[in-house]
Parts: sequence; C-alpha cells; structure tokens
Amino acid sequence: MCSTLQHKPIVLTGDRPTGPLHLGHYAGSLRNRVALQATHEQYVLIADAQALTDNADDPDKVRNAVIEVALDYLAVGIDPERTTICLQSALSALPELTMLYLNFVTVARLERNPTIKAEIQLRGFGRNIPAGFVCYPVAQAADITAFKARVVPVGEDQAPMIEQTNEIVRRINRQVGRDLLPEAKALIPEAGRLPGVDGKAKMSKSLGNAISLSASPETIREAVRRMYTDPDHLRVSDPGRVEGNVVFAYLDAFAENRDEVESLKARYLAGGLGDAAVKRRLEEILQAMIAPIRERRRELAEDRTFVREALREGTQKARAVTAATLSEVKDALGVFAL
Ligand code: TRP
Repeated sequence: MCSTLQHKPIVLTGDRPTGPLHLGHYAGSLRNRVALQATHEQYVLIADAQALTDNADDPDKVRNAVIEVALDYLAVGIDPERTTICLQSALSALPELTMLYLNFVTVARLERNPTIKAEIQLRGFGRNIPAGFVCYPVAQAADITAFKARVVPVGEDQAPMIEQTNEIVRRINRQVGRDLLPEAKALIPEAGRLPGVDGKAKMSKSLGNAISLSASPETIREAVRRMYTDPDHLRVSDPGRVEGNVVFAYLDAFAENRDEVESLKARYLAGGLGDAAVKRRLEEILQAMIAPIRERRRELAEDRTFVREALREGTQKARAVTAATLSEVKDALGVFAL
C-alpha cells in the first residue's frame, strides 16, 4: 500500500500547445523536468484547453501542436515511464473543478491578476476580454489542485497564477473547515528567462526570435550569426559589454564549462575578443546540444503511435487522479451525491 511513489512530492507543470517548443522552454523548464522525474511524482499537462482561451479562432494550430509538444518532451528525455504526460481537454474533472472554484473568486480579483492584465493589454482586448481567458487562472488552479501538486516549476510570469491558486485553496479550505487542498509552491529558475535571439526579453515563437528544439543545423547557424550582441562593439580590439549580450546569455544558459565562459567574458570585456569568435563557440555548443534532441525527435516522429500511446496512457492515469480529487471536493463542498 505504501509504495515509495506515494511518498514522493507531487510536481505539476504544463505548456500551452501552440507550436513546437524552443530553447527558452528547454532552459526554463524542460531540463528541470528531466531532473525532477527522478525525485518527484511528476505530471506534465499539455494545456490545450487553456491554449484555446486565446486561440479559439485557430483550433487547428492548437490541435496540431499537441503531438509536436509531446514529441519535444520525449526527445529531451522526459520519460513516460517516470513522468505522466497528459492532455488537459481529456480530463473532464478539470472544468468541473473550475466551475466550483469560480464561486470563490471575484471578477475584480481576476482582472487584477498581473499576468492577465499584461496579456489583456498586449492583445488589445480592452473590455472585450473572452470570459474563458480572464478565468484561465481559475482553470489553472483546478489543474494544480486536481493533482494535489505542491511544487509547480514555472517561469517568472506564472508566479501570479500560483498566488491566485493558493488564495483559492485557502478560501476553499476555510469554507470546508479543514486542509482539503494543499498550497503549491512556484519553483522559478534562478537564471531568469532566456532572451530572444534579437535581444528582446523573451524568446517566443510568435515574436519570431526563437530557436526551436527541432531547428536544423542551418537554422541554428543563421540564428547565431544574427544574434544580438553589443551594438557598440565595433572592432575586435574594443572592449565589449557582456550585460544584455545575447551570446553570453546563451553561453551562461548552455555551456557546461563555467571556467571557459568566465574566461571568454573577461577577454571580451577587456577587448581583443571578437563577436565572430564567441559566436563560433556558442554555435558549436548549441549544435552539439540540439543534435541528439533533433535526432531522437526525428526517430519518434516516424512512430507517432508510440507518442500517442504514451499520451493516452498518461491521460488515463491522470483521469483517475483528477476524478478522485473532484469527488473529494464535491463531497466537502456539500454537493448533492446521487
Ligand atoms: N499557463 C502556463 C503557461 O502558459 C501553462 C499551464 C497550464 C500550467 N496549466 C498549468 C503551468 C499548470 C503549470 C501548472 O505556460
């Protein structure tokens, strides 16, 4: 009865499937997940229902990205034997929990969520906010609590979602008079987010500044060649800036040899090290890192039934876990039991 599995802390993460994943996802969370699956009971949610909250006019994009994202997971080493990979839209307990939780949140609070606020502005919704969109933090609270996750590794921009989840958890626990649902802790990578190749703060497919995990050697070469460095570093002999220099941000994120990076930085700062030389080194590192991922992804893409099967099995397992939580919550909140 007490298998060791049950004693491992539960971790849940998720991604919106809108296209293949990129190096930003890799540095920010995929790498962590490969490590976490050894020590945690890990669930990874392909959040297609959430992706539809702002892509309802383009369901093909979301549907087609589901398998792409699953392929990326397997290609980087997320192991379906150790990590439960599941599909959000196939877990009906999640929207049921969402409906119940919505009664414990105000519209004013939803509109104050900093991530939602920023996204409303970015997309120019004004007052015409899709209701599903403004409610997605509640759906995310349902995701997190349905698995009773205590650890949620996410990027910095998702911290307000965890905060809002915990408010809902406390509100419900107060309503039912006991610790029915656990609070969750955001696990935010220290390194911060990976900038886009153009120097913008965020790597994103829609901004066109991303290197995908399935990028060809030529695409990688070209992306590194165009990469934003220090615009004032005109001659090799000039001292250069490392701060805000994308090439060094990537070396920090991906080079295994820290001493080498520190020495490159020192030489660049002092003057005498050209952009072309540092870029050459970064390109070598990225090519070596992405090649096995691309190769494994290509092999897996040839046998999509394996990928589908892994997703189906994971979803089945997740269905049992989330349905059990839903019954507990309905029961505790006093919903009529037939
Ligand atoms: N909102 C997350 C993102 O955009 C994706 C997500 C959905 C998620 N459900 C989750 C992340 C549950 C962590 C836990 O990246």
